[in-house]
Amino acid sequence: MKIMAFVGSPRKGSNTDILIDKVIEGARSSADVEVEKIYIYDADIKYCTGCGAHTILQGSKDCPLKDDMEGILKRMQEADGFIFGSPNHGRTISAGMTNFFSRMMPLLQMHVERDDAGNIVHAESRPLIKGKKAVIVVSQGDNVASSSALVLMILDANLRDFHLRKVGEVFSMFNLKRAQVKDKPDDLKTAFAAGVRLSTAR
Ligand SMILES: Cc1cc2nc3c(=O)[nH]c(=O)nc-3n(C[C@H](O)[C@H](O)[C@H](O)COP(=O)(O)O)c2cc1C
Repeated sequence: MKIMAFVGSPRKGSNTDILIDKVIEGARSSADVEVEKIYIYDADIKYCTGCGAHTILQGSKDCPLKDDMEGILKRMQEADGFIFGSPNHGRTISAGMTNFFSRMMPLLQMHVERDDAGNIVHAESRPLIKGKKAVIVVSQGDNVASSSALVLMILDANLRDFHLRKVGEVFSMFNLKRAQVKDKPDDLKTAFAAGVRLSTAR
């Protein structure tokens, strides 16, 4: 199977990245898995300009931005599962991850039905990655879980919008320092178990 992991922290090798690596390790422990890891902050992913070219109202055109996203969206359609990891930045997901979800919008293909006058009477999204599995990973600095309430809600909502199936959630807190999570065996265990589910869940 093929998994794509998206690291939404600008800090390579730090908490989010370490947890994602553990999820990958778990996935590899129980299946033959091919992994593509993408550092969102390193990739050439331009800001969404909000042009709406991909929307049905503007003729479902290709995104006019020319960067790494075109290939990423193609490969996402071929993948079996995803890992979306983000640190808590100001109680929400990182700026890079926010933009990444916006740039995923071309995958949310809309299907509309019109009446004889051409008015839209029914609309539904048919995401091109519908039904694929996903694990979310969140690291925060505070030692109070509620700090990431919005972070988890946003990740869940995006998974729902793209009709992805959440098979695991990894949430680690009190990671104030760089790479601090490496000394938290319980959180690493949770991440490993989420990876096992990612590769084995039906
Ligand atoms: C700009 C910024 C904003 C942050 N805001 C919060 C916050 O609101 N709540 C929180 O618990 N941690 C916050 N943190 C701490 C990070 O979520 C935490 O250190 C996390 O482990 C970083 O993950 P990383 O090492 O993968 O980058 C913030 C960190 C940064 C850099």
